[in-house]
Amino acid sequence: QMSPADRAKYAAAHRAAAFVEDGMRVGLGTGSTAAWLVRSLGQRQRDEGLRFRAVPTSQRTAEQAREEGIALVTLEEAGWLDLTIDGADEFDAEFNLIKGGGGALLREKIVAAASERMIVIADIGKEVGRLGAFPLPVEVIPFGWQATQRLIEETLEAADVLGREVRPRLAGGQPFVTDEGNYILDLHLGRIGQPRRLAMVLNQIPGVVENGLFVDICDMVIAGYADGRVELRD
Ligand code: A5P
Repeated sequence: QMSPADRAKYAAAHRAAAFVEDGMRVGLGTGSTAAWLVRSLGQRQRDEGLRFRAVPTSQRTAEQAREEGIALVTLEEAGWLDLTIDGADEFDAEFNLIKGGGGALLREKIVAAASERMIVIADIGKEVGRLGAFPLPVEVIPFGWQATQRLIEETLEAADVLGREVRPRLAGGQPFVTDEGNYILDLHLGRIGQPRRLAMVLNQIPGVVENGLFVDICDMVIAGYADGRVELRD
């Protein structure tokens, strides 16, 4: 039996799968919603003989896609993508996103930015008036990460951000390590007044590789409801 949240995620993912056309190069997101997408695309391949090539945004997604028999290529091989479909942790009315709850934000952002079009799939509960209740993930280089953390804290203070708590993400008591071999710092901000500005100042800090704010990247949101309805916004 699927939970209401899963039904909403599945509904959005299944609808998004219909946007993939024969011959496309497609970026595949990461997370529980993206996992439904990968399943739906595997299904379309088997049922309709749909043929496409995909660039996965994580090891996890790559494994699942392989199991579904989806042809994988690297972004280097693909060069550019027609479409990327991915989940999000939060989205607002302007399609600004917080991503990286699953730790894959760096590859997710590179892949989405290298796509003609990005579709976000999410249950409607991810919609927010203002971003920031979800902790903002920032990917940092392990070398000197404590110094990077301190610089982030000072930057938040200077930017007058309300919440300033920065916590290293752990996995089993050890630093969580991303697919690119980096660490994640989760920024508990509560409310992000100017996402574009914050994304820019964070990326200027030495040691910061990328942050989970996606601004001007998402073109369409497919929001799913527990009763199976979906809403397309673009
Ligand atoms: C992965 O790094 C994230 O950006 C995911 O896209 C995000 O966490 C959404 O995950 P769920 O679909 O599991 O909520």
